[in-house]
Amino acid sequence: MREPNEKIMNFIEKQKLPLSAIEAVEDICIHIVDKEGRTICYSKGCEKIEGEKRENIIGKKIEELYTFDEIKDNPHGSIQLKVLETGEIMKNNHVMYTSKNNKSVDVISSTYPVFSDDESAVIAAVCVFRDIGDYMKMANTIQKLKNDLNTEKITKRNNGTVYTFKNVISASSTMNECIDMAKKAAKSTAPVMIIGSTGTGKEVFAQSIHNESIVSKGPFVAINCSAIPENLLESTLFGTCKGAFTGAVENIGLFESAKDGTLFLDEINSMDLNLQAKLLRSLETKTIRKVGGNEEIPINVRIISATNQDPLQAVKDKKIRADFYYRLAVISLDLPDLKNRKEDISKLVDSFILSNSSVLGKQISKISDEAFNILLEHNWPGNIRELKHVIDQALYLSDFNETLIKAQHLPKYLFENYSKKKRLSKYLSKQKDTLKDTMKDIEKQIILDAFENSDKNITQTAHKLGMTRQNMQHKLKSYGIR
Ligand SMILES: Nc1ncnc2c1ncn2[C@@H]1O[C@H](COP(=O)(O)OP(=O)(O)OP(=O)(O)O)[C@@H](O)[C@H]1O
Ligand SMILES: [Mg+2]
Repeated sequence: MREPNEKIMNFIEKQKLPLSAIEAVEDICIHIVDKEGRTICYSKGCEKIEGEKRENIIGKKIEELYTFDEIKDNPHGSIQLKVLETGEIMKNNHVMYTSKNNKSVDVISSTYPVFSDDESAVIAAVCVFRDIGDYMKMANTIQKLKNDLNTEKITKRNNGTVYTFKNVISASSTMNECIDMAKKAAKSTAPVMIIGSTGTGKEVFAQSIHNESIVSKGPFVAINCSAIPENLLESTLFGTCKGAFTGAVENIGLFESAKDGTLFLDEINSMDLNLQAKLLRSLETKTIRKVGGNEEIPINVRIISATNQDPLQAVKDKKIRADFYYRLAVISLDLPDLKNRKEDISKLVDSFILSNSSVLGKQISKISDEAFNILLEHNWPGNIRELKHVIDQALYLSDFNETLIKAQHLPKYLFENYSKKKRLSKYLSKQKDTLKDTMKDIEKQIILDAFENSDKNITQTAHKLGMTRQNMQHKLKSYGIR
Protein backbone atom coordinates (compact mmCIF):
# COMPACT_ATOMS: atom_id res chain seq x y z
CA MET A 1 0.00 0.00 0.00
CA ARG A 2 1.45 3.40 -0.97
CA GLU A 3 1.37 6.26 1.50
CA PRO A 4 -1.25 8.88 0.65
CA ASN A 5 -0.03 12.04 -0.96
CA GLU A 6 2.59 13.63 1.28
CA LYS A 7 1.59 17.19 0.57
CA ILE A 8 -1.95 16.60 1.71
CA MET A 9 -0.82 14.81 4.82
CA ASN A 10 1.39 17.83 5.58
CA PHE A 11 -1.50 20.12 4.82
CA ILE A 12 -3.78 18.18 7.15
CA GLU A 13 -1.17 18.14 9.87
CA LYS A 14 -0.46 21.85 9.44
CA GLN A 15 -4.13 22.71 9.70
CA LYS A 16 -4.49 20.29 12.62
CA LEU A 17 -7.44 18.89 10.74
CA PRO A 18 -8.99 16.31 13.02
CA LEU A 19 -9.27 13.50 10.48
CA SER A 20 -10.13 11.04 13.20
CA ALA A 21 -13.12 13.19 14.08
CA ILE A 22 -14.34 12.96 10.49
CA GLU A 23 -13.75 9.23 10.48
CA ALA A 24 -16.00 8.82 13.51
CA VAL A 25 -19.01 10.29 11.68
CA GLU A 26 -21.60 7.57 11.31
CA ASP A 27 -24.82 9.03 9.96
CA ILE A 28 -23.27 10.51 6.85
CA CYS A 29 -20.52 9.13 4.62
CA ILE A 30 -17.37 11.18 4.07
CA HIS A 31 -14.75 9.88 1.68
CA ILE A 32 -11.67 11.98 0.87
CA VAL A 33 -9.17 11.09 -1.85
CA ASP A 34 -5.84 12.70 -2.70
CA LYS A 35 -4.99 14.04 -6.14
CA GLU A 36 -4.23 10.55 -7.41
CA GLY A 37 -7.55 9.24 -6.21
CA ARG A 38 -6.13 7.40 -3.17
CA THR A 39 -8.30 7.29 -0.08
CA ILE A 40 -7.03 9.41 2.80
CA CYS A 41 -10.18 9.53 4.90
CA TYR A 42 -13.06 7.07 5.12
CA SER A 43 -15.77 7.72 7.71
CA LYS A 44 -17.68 5.12 9.74
CA GLY A 45 -20.76 5.96 7.64
CA CYS A 46 -18.86 4.70 4.55
CA GLU A 47 -17.94 1.49 6.36
CA LYS A 48 -21.61 0.89 7.11
CA ILE A 49 -22.93 1.58 3.66
CA GLU A 50 -20.19 -0.24 1.73
CA GLY A 51 -19.74 -3.08 4.23
CA GLU A 52 -15.99 -2.45 4.32
CA LYS A 53 -13.30 -1.87 6.94
CA ARG A 54 -11.41 1.41 6.94
CA GLU A 55 -8.04 -0.30 7.01
CA ASN A 56 -8.81 -2.11 3.73
CA ILE A 57 -9.65 1.16 1.99
CA ILE A 58 -7.09 3.72 3.16
CA GLY A 59 -4.37 4.27 0.56
CA LYS A 60 -6.26 2.41 -2.19
CA LYS A 61 -7.15 4.03 -5.48
CA ILE A 62 -10.76 4.61 -6.52
CA GLU A 63 -10.34 2.29 -9.53
CA GLU A 64 -9.22 -0.53 -7.24
CA LEU A 65 -12.17 -0.06 -4.93
CA TYR A 66 -15.27 0.48 -7.01
CA THR A 67 -17.09 -0.44 -10.20
CA PHE A 68 -19.44 2.27 -11.34
CA ASP A 69 -22.71 1.75 -13.10
CA GLU A 70 -21.95 2.35 -16.75
CA ILE A 71 -25.43 3.66 -17.52
CA LYS A 72 -24.88 6.78 -15.48
CA ASP A 73 -24.39 9.99 -17.34
CA ASN A 74 -20.78 10.14 -16.26
CA PRO A 75 -17.95 8.96 -18.51
CA HIS A 76 -15.51 9.11 -15.57
CA GLY A 77 -17.50 6.60 -13.57
CA SER A 78 -16.30 8.15 -10.35
CA ILE A 79 -17.49 11.64 -9.50
CA GLN A 80 -14.43 12.12 -7.29
CA LEU A 81 -12.10 11.53 -10.24
CA LYS A 82 -14.13 13.98 -12.28
CA VAL A 83 -13.85 16.63 -9.55
CA LEU A 84 -10.09 16.03 -9.31
CA GLU A 85 -9.84 16.62 -13.04
CA THR A 86 -12.17 19.61 -13.40
CA GLY A 87 -11.87 21.27 -9.99
CA GLU A 88 -15.61 21.87 -10.04
CA ILE A 89 -18.03 21.16 -7.23
CA MET A 90 -20.58 18.47 -8.11
CA LYS A 91 -23.69 18.53 -5.97
CA ASN A 92 -26.54 16.08 -5.44
CA ASN A 93 -25.45 13.40 -7.87
CA HIS A 94 -27.26 10.10 -7.95
CA VAL A 95 -24.49 7.48 -8.09
CA MET A 96 -24.77 3.72 -8.28
CA TYR A 97 -21.69 1.56 -7.84
CA THR A 98 -20.42 -1.75 -6.55
CA SER A 99 -17.96 -1.85 -3.67
CA LYS A 100 -14.89 -4.05 -3.47
CA ASN A 101 -16.79 -6.82 -1.72
CA ASN A 102 -19.52 -6.78 -4.39
CA LYS A 103 -22.08 -4.76 -2.46
CA SER A 104 -24.40 -2.65 -4.63
CA VAL A 105 -24.56 0.89 -3.35
CA ASP A 106 -27.06 3.55 -4.39
CA VAL A 107 -26.34 7.02 -3.01
CA ILE A 108 -26.77 10.75 -3.42
CA SER A 109 -23.41 12.48 -3.22
CA SER A 110 -21.87 15.93 -3.31
CA THR A 111 -18.16 16.24 -4.07
CA TYR A 112 -15.93 19.26 -3.39
CA PRO A 113 -12.40 19.93 -4.63
CA VAL A 114 -9.61 20.95 -2.22
CA PHE A 115 -7.08 23.34 -3.81
CA SER A 116 -3.37 23.78 -3.12
CA ASP A 117 -2.27 26.82 -1.13
CA ASP A 118 -1.64 28.82 -4.31
CA GLU A 119 -4.92 27.50 -5.72
CA SER A 120 -3.13 26.28 -8.84
CA ALA A 121 -4.02 22.60 -8.46
CA VAL A 122 -6.65 20.33 -7.03
CA ILE A 123 -5.01 18.27 -4.29
CA ALA A 124 -7.98 16.34 -2.96
CA ALA A 125 -11.68 15.67 -3.43
CA VAL A 126 -14.08 15.43 -0.50
CA CYS A 127 -17.15 13.37 -1.19
CA VAL A 128 -20.12 13.52 1.18
CA PHE A 129 -22.92 11.04 0.56
CA ARG A 130 -25.93 9.25 1.96
CA ASP A 131 -27.83 6.14 1.07
CA ILE A 132 -30.71 6.87 -1.28
CA GLY A 133 -33.06 5.06 1.11
CA ASP A 134 -32.54 7.84 3.70
CA TYR A 135 -33.53 10.43 1.13
CA MET A 136 -36.58 8.43 0.14
CA LYS A 137 -37.66 8.25 3.78
CA MET A 138 -37.45 12.04 3.94
CA ALA A 139 -39.32 12.35 0.64
CA ASN A 140 -42.06 10.07 1.93
CA THR A 141 -42.39 12.12 5.09
CA ILE A 142 -42.76 15.29 3.00
CA GLN A 143 -45.29 13.53 0.77
CA LYS A 144 -47.24 12.37 3.80
CA LEU A 145 -47.29 15.85 5.32
CA LYS A 146 -48.46 17.20 1.98
CA ASN A 147 -51.21 14.59 1.76
CA ASP A 148 -52.30 15.38 5.29
CA LEU A 149 -52.50 19.04 4.32
CA ASN A 150 -54.58 18.14 1.26
CA THR A 151 -56.87 15.92 3.26
CA GLU A 152 -57.36 18.68 5.78
CA LYS A 153 -58.33 21.08 2.99
CA ILE A 154 -60.75 18.52 1.61
CA THR A 155 -62.32 17.72 4.96
CA LYS A 156 -63.33 21.34 5.00
CA ARG A 157 -65.37 20.54 1.87
CA ASN A 158 -66.96 18.06 4.15
CA ASN A 159 -67.81 15.16 1.91
CA GLY A 160 -64.71 13.00 2.40
CA THR A 161 -63.34 13.27 -1.13
CA VAL A 162 -60.17 14.53 -2.76
CA TYR A 163 -60.79 13.94 -6.46
CA THR A 164 -63.13 15.26 -9.14
CA PHE A 165 -63.09 14.58 -12.89
CA LYS A 166 -60.86 17.66 -13.23
CA ASN A 167 -58.09 15.62 -11.58
CA VAL A 168 -58.42 12.70 -13.98
CA ILE A 169 -55.59 13.01 -16.50
CA SER A 170 -55.93 11.22 -19.80
CA ALA A 171 -54.87 11.45 -23.43
CA SER A 172 -55.70 7.98 -24.72
CA SER A 173 -59.01 7.23 -26.39
CA THR A 174 -59.64 4.26 -24.04
CA MET A 175 -59.35 6.48 -20.97
CA ASN A 176 -61.39 9.26 -22.56
CA GLU A 177 -64.13 6.70 -23.16
CA CYS A 178 -63.92 5.65 -19.49
CA ILE A 179 -64.30 9.26 -18.38
CA ASP A 180 -67.33 9.78 -20.67
CA MET A 181 -68.93 6.63 -19.35
CA ALA A 182 -68.18 7.51 -15.72
CA LYS A 183 -69.73 10.97 -16.22
CA LYS A 184 -72.87 9.35 -17.60
CA ALA A 185 -72.89 6.92 -14.67
CA ALA A 186 -72.62 9.87 -12.28
CA LYS A 187 -75.86 11.26 -13.63
CA SER A 188 -77.78 8.05 -12.91
CA THR A 189 -78.31 6.40 -9.54
CA ALA A 190 -77.48 2.90 -10.77
CA PRO A 191 -74.75 0.98 -8.91
CA VAL A 192 -71.36 1.20 -10.61
CA MET A 193 -68.63 -1.42 -10.46
CA ILE A 194 -65.10 -0.21 -11.24
CA ILE A 195 -62.70 -2.88 -12.43
CA GLY A 196 -58.98 -2.26 -12.66
CA SER A 197 -55.55 -3.42 -11.50
CA THR A 198 -53.82 -1.75 -8.58
CA GLY A 199 -53.06 1.95 -9.09
CA THR A 200 -55.25 2.42 -12.17
CA GLY A 201 -57.42 5.05 -10.47
CA LYS A 202 -60.43 3.18 -9.05
CA GLU A 203 -60.63 5.44 -6.01
CA VAL A 204 -60.10 8.52 -8.20
CA PHE A 205 -63.04 7.50 -10.39
CA ALA A 206 -65.28 6.51 -7.47
CA GLN A 207 -64.81 9.92 -5.83
CA SER A 208 -65.19 11.79 -9.12
CA ILE A 209 -68.46 10.00 -9.83
CA HIS A 210 -69.70 10.91 -6.36
CA ASN A 211 -68.75 14.57 -6.84
CA GLU A 212 -70.61 14.80 -10.12
CA SER A 213 -73.71 12.96 -8.90
CA ILE A 214 -76.91 14.26 -7.31
CA VAL A 215 -75.70 12.98 -3.94
CA SER A 216 -72.45 15.00 -4.12
CA LYS A 217 -73.43 17.10 -1.12
CA GLY A 218 -73.82 13.91 0.91
CA PRO A 219 -70.88 11.98 2.38
CA PHE A 220 -68.51 9.71 0.47
CA VAL A 221 -67.68 6.74 2.70
CA ALA A 222 -65.10 4.20 1.55
CA ILE A 223 -64.40 0.78 2.97
CA ASN A 224 -61.81 -1.74 1.87
CA CYS A 225 -63.52 -5.10 2.29
CA SER A 226 -60.22 -6.98 2.38
CA ALA A 227 -58.81 -4.88 5.21
CA ILE A 228 -61.48 -5.78 7.78
CA PRO A 229 -61.73 -9.24 9.35
CA GLU A 230 -64.72 -11.17 8.01
CA ASN A 231 -66.61 -11.30 11.29
CA LEU A 232 -66.26 -7.54 11.83
CA LEU A 233 -67.27 -6.48 8.34
CA GLU A 234 -70.97 -7.09 8.88
CA SER A 235 -71.13 -4.95 12.04
CA THR A 236 -68.91 -2.32 10.39
CA LEU A 237 -71.34 -2.06 7.47
CA PHE A 238 -74.68 -2.39 9.26
CA GLY A 239 -73.88 -1.26 12.82
CA THR A 240 -74.65 -3.07 16.06
CA CYS A 241 -77.36 -3.08 18.72
CA LYS A 242 -76.42 -3.11 22.37
CA GLY A 243 -75.92 -6.69 23.56
CA ALA A 244 -75.76 -8.15 20.03
CA PHE A 245 -72.67 -9.98 21.19
CA THR A 246 -70.48 -9.79 24.27
CA GLY A 247 -69.40 -6.22 24.73
CA ALA A 248 -71.45 -4.88 21.79
CA VAL A 249 -72.66 -1.32 22.14
CA GLU A 250 -75.18 0.65 20.09
CA ASN A 251 -73.25 1.69 16.99
CA ILE A 252 -74.15 2.99 13.57
CA GLY A 253 -72.61 1.27 10.58
CA LEU A 254 -71.11 2.68 7.40
CA PHE A 255 -74.41 2.37 5.55
CA GLU A 256 -75.94 4.86 7.94
CA SER A 257 -72.81 7.06 7.87
CA ALA A 258 -73.13 7.20 4.07
CA LYS A 259 -76.83 8.09 4.20
CA ASP A 260 -77.84 10.30 1.25
CA GLY A 261 -74.32 9.91 -0.14
CA THR A 262 -72.13 7.19 -1.62
CA LEU A 263 -70.80 4.00 -0.04
CA PHE A 264 -67.67 2.84 -1.86
CA LEU A 265 -67.09 -0.88 -1.36
CA ASP A 266 -63.47 -1.45 -2.39
CA GLU A 267 -62.05 -4.95 -3.11
CA ILE A 268 -65.55 -6.38 -3.13
CA ASN A 269 -64.17 -9.73 -4.35
CA SER A 270 -62.80 -10.45 -0.88
CA MET A 271 -66.18 -10.19 0.84
CA ASP A 272 -67.54 -13.36 2.41
CA LEU A 273 -70.34 -15.05 0.38
CA ASN A 274 -72.85 -15.01 3.28
CA LEU A 275 -72.32 -11.32 3.79
CA GLN A 276 -72.76 -10.78 0.04
CA ALA A 277 -76.22 -12.38 0.39
CA LYS A 278 -77.12 -10.08 3.30
CA LEU A 279 -75.86 -7.04 1.43
CA LEU A 280 -77.80 -8.02 -1.67
CA ARG A 281 -80.96 -8.19 0.39
CA SER A 282 -80.30 -4.69 1.77
CA LEU A 283 -79.72 -3.30 -1.70
CA GLU A 284 -82.94 -4.83 -2.96
CA THR A 285 -85.12 -3.75 -0.06
CA LYS A 286 -83.26 -0.44 0.49
CA THR A 287 -83.24 -1.22 4.19
CA ILE A 288 -80.63 -2.44 6.64
CA ARG A 289 -80.85 -4.41 9.85
CA LYS A 290 -78.21 -3.83 12.53
CA VAL A 291 -76.37 -6.83 13.92
CA GLY A 292 -78.45 -8.02 16.88
CA GLY A 293 -81.45 -5.86 15.90
CA ASN A 294 -84.89 -6.57 14.40
CA GLU A 295 -85.75 -3.17 13.08
CA GLU A 296 -85.58 -2.56 9.31
CA ILE A 297 -83.97 0.84 8.86
CA PRO A 298 -84.66 2.52 5.49
CA ILE A 299 -81.50 3.65 3.82
CA ASN A 300 -80.81 5.76 0.76
CA VAL A 301 -77.23 5.18 -0.33
CA ARG A 302 -75.60 5.07 -3.71
CA ILE A 303 -73.27 2.08 -4.05
CA ILE A 304 -70.01 2.12 -5.99
CA SER A 305 -67.91 -1.01 -5.80
CA ALA A 306 -64.43 -1.87 -7.05
CA THR A 307 -62.43 -4.98 -7.76
CA ASN A 308 -58.91 -5.61 -9.00
CA GLN A 309 -59.90 -9.03 -10.38
CA ASP A 310 -62.02 -9.87 -13.38
CA PRO A 311 -65.46 -10.10 -11.68
CA LEU A 312 -66.83 -12.66 -14.15
CA GLN A 313 -63.90 -14.91 -13.33
CA ALA A 314 -64.56 -14.29 -9.62
CA VAL A 315 -68.18 -15.36 -10.21
CA LYS A 316 -66.92 -18.52 -11.94
CA ASP A 317 -64.51 -19.16 -9.06
CA LYS A 318 -67.42 -18.70 -6.63
CA LYS A 319 -65.79 -15.73 -4.94
CA ILE A 320 -68.61 -13.40 -5.97
CA ARG A 321 -72.25 -14.53 -6.04
CA ALA A 322 -73.70 -14.13 -9.53
CA ASP A 323 -76.87 -12.33 -8.29
CA PHE A 324 -74.72 -9.96 -6.19
CA TYR A 325 -72.49 -9.21 -9.18
CA TYR A 326 -75.40 -8.38 -11.49
CA ARG A 327 -76.93 -6.16 -8.80
CA LEU A 328 -73.67 -4.21 -8.28
CA ALA A 329 -72.47 -4.03 -11.86
CA VAL A 330 -75.48 -2.38 -13.45
CA ILE A 331 -72.87 -0.08 -14.94
CA SER A 332 -69.34 -1.45 -15.11
CA LEU A 333 -66.28 0.58 -15.77
CA ASP A 334 -63.05 -1.09 -16.91
CA LEU A 335 -59.94 0.96 -16.19
CA PRO A 336 -57.11 -0.14 -18.51
CA ASP A 337 -53.58 -0.87 -17.29
CA LEU A 338 -51.09 1.91 -17.96
CA LYS A 339 -49.02 -0.39 -20.20
CA ASN A 340 -52.00 -0.47 -22.58
CA ARG A 341 -52.35 3.29 -22.75
CA LYS A 342 -48.82 4.60 -22.89
CA GLU A 343 -50.12 7.72 -24.67
CA ASP A 344 -51.20 8.87 -21.20
CA ILE A 345 -47.68 8.80 -19.75
CA SER A 346 -46.55 12.15 -21.15
CA LYS A 347 -49.59 14.03 -19.85
CA LEU A 348 -49.46 12.28 -16.47
CA VAL A 349 -45.76 13.08 -16.07
CA ASP A 350 -46.32 16.75 -16.94
CA SER A 351 -49.15 16.94 -14.46
CA PHE A 352 -47.17 15.27 -11.64
CA ILE A 353 -44.21 17.60 -12.30
CA LEU A 354 -46.47 20.63 -12.30
CA SER A 355 -48.20 19.75 -9.07
CA ASN A 356 -45.14 18.67 -7.09
CA SER A 357 -42.05 20.43 -8.43
CA SER A 358 -42.68 23.77 -6.74
CA VAL A 359 -43.99 22.12 -3.57
CA LEU A 360 -40.53 20.56 -3.19
CA GLY A 361 -38.90 23.89 -4.02
CA LYS A 362 -37.59 22.61 -7.38
CA GLN A 363 -37.48 24.28 -10.79
CA ILE A 364 -38.09 21.14 -12.81
CA SER A 365 -40.64 21.73 -15.53
CA LYS A 366 -39.94 18.94 -18.04
CA ILE A 367 -38.48 15.50 -18.57
CA SER A 368 -35.53 14.72 -20.87
CA ASP A 369 -36.09 12.58 -23.97
CA GLU A 370 -33.86 9.81 -22.61
CA ALA A 371 -35.66 9.66 -19.27
CA PHE A 372 -39.01 9.72 -21.05
CA ASN A 373 -37.98 6.81 -23.29
CA ILE A 374 -37.04 4.82 -20.20
CA LEU A 375 -40.54 5.46 -18.79
CA LEU A 376 -42.09 4.38 -22.08
CA GLU A 377 -40.22 1.07 -22.05
CA HIS A 378 -41.40 0.11 -18.56
CA ASN A 379 -44.42 -2.12 -18.02
CA TRP A 380 -45.85 -0.27 -15.00
CA PRO A 381 -47.27 -3.12 -12.89
CA GLY A 382 -48.16 -0.52 -10.22
CA ASN A 383 -49.79 1.63 -12.92
CA ILE A 384 -50.35 5.35 -12.27
CA ARG A 385 -49.44 5.10 -8.59
CA GLU A 386 -46.04 3.70 -9.55
CA LEU A 387 -45.51 6.43 -12.18
CA LYS A 388 -46.40 9.09 -9.62
CA HIS A 389 -43.88 7.67 -7.13
CA VAL A 390 -41.16 7.57 -9.80
CA ILE A 391 -41.74 11.23 -10.70
CA ASP A 392 -41.93 12.31 -7.05
CA GLN A 393 -38.66 10.50 -6.38
CA ALA A 394 -37.02 12.08 -9.43
CA LEU A 395 -38.14 15.53 -8.33
CA TYR A 396 -36.73 14.89 -4.93
CA LEU A 397 -33.39 13.72 -6.29
CA SER A 398 -32.97 16.60 -8.70
CA ASP A 399 -30.77 19.53 -7.80
CA PHE A 400 -32.42 22.83 -6.91
CA ASN A 401 -31.21 24.56 -10.07
CA GLU A 402 -32.07 21.77 -12.51
CA THR A 403 -34.98 22.22 -14.89
CA LEU A 404 -35.16 18.73 -16.44
CA ILE A 405 -35.82 15.28 -15.02
CA LYS A 406 -32.91 13.25 -16.33
CA ALA A 407 -32.27 9.51 -16.57
CA GLN A 408 -30.00 9.70 -13.52
CA HIS A 409 -32.96 10.79 -11.38
CA LEU A 410 -34.91 7.63 -12.16
CA PRO A 411 -34.82 4.51 -9.95
CA LYS A 412 -32.39 1.75 -10.80
CA TYR A 413 -34.98 -0.91 -11.55
CA LEU A 414 -36.27 1.07 -14.56
CA PHE A 415 -32.79 1.06 -16.08
CA GLU A 416 -32.52 -2.68 -15.76
CA ASN A 417 -35.66 -3.19 -17.85
CA TYR A 418 -34.53 -0.56 -20.30
CA SER A 419 -31.08 -2.11 -20.76
CA LYS A 420 -32.58 -5.59 -21.13
CA LYS A 421 -34.94 -4.36 -23.83
CA LYS A 422 -32.15 -2.47 -25.56
CA ARG A 423 -30.06 -5.61 -25.50
CA LEU A 424 -32.96 -7.63 -26.83
CA SER A 425 -33.45 -5.18 -29.68
CA LYS A 426 -29.71 -5.49 -30.39
CA TYR A 427 -30.22 -9.24 -30.72
CA LEU A 428 -33.40 -8.90 -32.71
CA SER A 429 -31.72 -6.55 -35.16
CA LYS A 430 -29.68 -9.57 -36.15
CA GLN A 431 -32.66 -11.22 -37.70
CA LYS A 432 -31.72 -13.32 -40.74
CA ASP A 433 -33.71 -15.19 -43.34
CA THR A 434 -34.16 -18.44 -41.49
CA LEU A 435 -35.04 -18.94 -37.84
CA LYS A 436 -32.07 -21.27 -37.41
CA ASP A 437 -29.57 -18.65 -38.63
CA THR A 438 -31.19 -15.95 -36.52
CA MET A 439 -31.09 -18.15 -33.40
CA LYS A 440 -27.44 -18.97 -34.02
CA ASP A 441 -26.57 -15.30 -34.32
CA ILE A 442 -28.47 -14.44 -31.16
CA GLU A 443 -26.78 -17.31 -29.28
CA LYS A 444 -23.39 -16.12 -30.47
CA GLN A 445 -24.15 -12.56 -29.32
CA ILE A 446 -25.31 -13.74 -25.86
CA ILE A 447 -22.21 -15.89 -25.40
CA LEU A 448 -19.94 -13.10 -26.63
CA ASP A 449 -21.51 -10.59 -24.20
CA ALA A 450 -21.26 -12.99 -21.25
CA PHE A 451 -17.67 -13.91 -22.20
CA GLU A 452 -16.60 -10.27 -22.30
CA ASN A 453 -18.45 -9.45 -19.10
CA SER A 454 -16.60 -12.28 -17.36
CA ASP A 455 -13.19 -10.94 -18.45
CA LYS A 456 -12.98 -13.82 -20.95
CA ASN A 457 -13.02 -16.39 -18.20
CA ILE A 458 -14.51 -19.58 -19.67
CA THR A 459 -15.54 -21.17 -16.35
CA GLN A 460 -17.33 -18.01 -15.24
CA THR A 461 -19.06 -17.58 -18.60
CA ALA A 462 -20.25 -21.19 -18.50
CA HIS A 463 -21.49 -20.74 -14.94
CA LYS A 464 -23.35 -17.52 -15.84
CA LEU A 465 -25.15 -19.18 -18.72
CA GLY A 466 -25.80 -22.46 -16.89
CA MET A 467 -23.57 -24.62 -19.10
CA THR A 468 -20.68 -26.97 -18.47
CA ARG A 469 -17.19 -25.63 -19.09
CA GLN A 470 -16.65 -28.23 -21.76
CA ASN A 471 -19.81 -27.27 -23.59
CA MET A 472 -18.88 -23.61 -23.39
CA GLN A 473 -15.43 -24.30 -24.81
CA HIS A 474 -17.04 -26.09 -27.69
CA LYS A 475 -19.47 -23.21 -28.36
CA LEU A 476 -16.71 -20.59 -28.18
CA LYS A 477 -14.68 -22.57 -30.66
CA SER A 478 -17.56 -23.11 -33.05
CA TYR A 479 -18.41 -19.40 -33.03
CA GLY A 480 -14.74 -18.45 -33.42
CA ILE A 481 -14.73 -16.46 -30.17
CA ARG A 482 -11.29 -16.20 -28.62
N1 LIG B 1 -56.25 9.32 -14.37
C1 LIG B 1 -55.49 9.77 -13.36
N2 LIG B 1 -54.99 11.01 -13.40
C2 LIG B 1 -54.19 11.46 -12.41
N3 LIG B 1 -53.82 10.74 -11.34
C3 LIG B 1 -54.29 9.51 -11.25
C4 LIG B 1 -55.15 8.96 -12.24
N4 LIG B 1 -55.45 7.70 -11.89
C5 LIG B 1 -54.80 7.46 -10.74
N5 LIG B 1 -54.10 8.54 -10.34
C6 LIG B 1 -53.24 8.64 -9.16
O1 LIG B 1 -52.67 7.34 -8.96
C7 LIG B 1 -52.70 6.96 -7.60
C8 LIG B 1 -53.50 5.67 -7.44
O2 LIG B 1 -54.88 5.88 -7.74
P1 LIG B 1 -56.04 5.09 -6.96
O3 LIG B 1 -55.77 5.10 -5.49
O4 LIG B 1 -57.33 5.65 -7.42
O5 LIG B 1 -55.81 3.63 -7.53
P2 LIG B 1 -56.60 2.29 -7.23
O6 LIG B 1 -57.02 1.73 -8.54
O7 LIG B 1 -57.67 2.57 -6.22
O8 LIG B 1 -55.46 1.39 -6.63
P3 LIG B 1 -55.58 0.17 -5.54
O9 LIG B 1 -56.25 -0.97 -6.24
O10 LIG B 1 -54.14 -0.17 -5.26
O11 LIG B 1 -56.33 0.69 -4.37
C9 LIG B 1 -53.29 8.14 -6.85
O12 LIG B 1 -52.22 8.89 -6.33
C10 LIG B 1 -54.00 8.95 -7.89
O13 LIG B 1 -53.96 10.30 -7.58
MG1 LIG C 1 -57.95 1.86 -4.22
